[in-house]
Amino acid sequence: MSKIEQAETCPAIRPRRFYDCSLNEKFLYTSFLMLAGLAYIMALAYLYTSFDGIDGKPGLSVEDIAENYYGNRSGTRLESAIRGPMASNIDKEQRNHVVEWLKSGAPEAGYERVIKPIFSKRCVMCHNPASGLPIPDLSSYEGVKQVANVDTGVSLHSLMKVSHIHLFGIGLVAFGIGLVFRFALLPSWFQQTLTLLPFIAIFADIAAWFLTKWDPVYAYTVIIAGGLLGLSWALQILISLYQIWFLRCRVEIEHDEQK
Ligand code: HEC
Repeated sequence: MSKIEQAETCPAIRPRRFYDCSLNEKFLYTSFLMLAGLAYIMALAYLYTSFDGIDGKPGLSVEDIAENYYGNRSGTRLESAIRGPMASNIDKEQRNHVVEWLKSGAPEAGYERVIKPIFSKRCVMCHNPASGLPIPDLSSYEGVKQVANVDTGVSLHSLMKVSHIHLFGIGLVAFGIGLVFRFALLPSWFQQTLTLLPFIAIFADIAAWFLTKWDPVYAYTVIIAGGLLGLSWALQILISLYQIWFLRCRVEIEHDEQK
């Protein structure tokens, strides 16, 4: 055994608590927690005003979130036409192919492979530039694209931008709040869970943005993870603030009682 190992006792001392902190530290922690809390409320307000009514209805809803990330993919003129006035020109199976293609974002490769053969047979006799009719030209990809513009929500590129900013930013804030919260006196399982929770929630939330882009049901995950993050931060901040200013150690209390 080396000397260093012999010298170590484990655990060395009891963990530091808020009542061990100097007044200076208490000021520092209190100010940071208050500002972080304020920033969080601001973020919520911003979130509310930027998502509110995306789906045309007032208030922040699962639909707003789904539509932001997933888009409104049923909203193309082409789809409403083949479900409505043009339905008699296309059979059910072909229609499903077209709808699938629209849902996947109307890519050019799929157009050449699947859509062009269908449209050439079924639609182009009327929908061509030579017809002279004021109707969409369905004889080329450019023409079809005009009526196939799908709203696929936030682009993957801007999702990546927002994600990395959030991961760095929120990660650091979670780290700061957690650093302060470690001085709290609580049952260790509770403190450990509460320390981990914000990080898990941030990860789940941001993963769910991408998943929602793929399938709108994950909008629920976005909401649940966001809620968990808010809840765990609120608990960490409130417990810390309370213990910073009101929790006293036993020695202090006994000392007071003797007076
Ligand atoms: C017999 C000729 C004819 C055929 C075949 C035809 N269309 Fe049309 N289409 C029209 C006419 C006329 C209009 C404009 C009047 C209307 O909207 O009903 C139109 C309108 C449309 C519109 C525009 C709707 C809008 O939002 O203004 C779309 C999209 C469309 N057709 C798609 C198709 C598709 C896809 C097919 C093939 C599956 C098809 N059409 C086959 C004659 C045709």
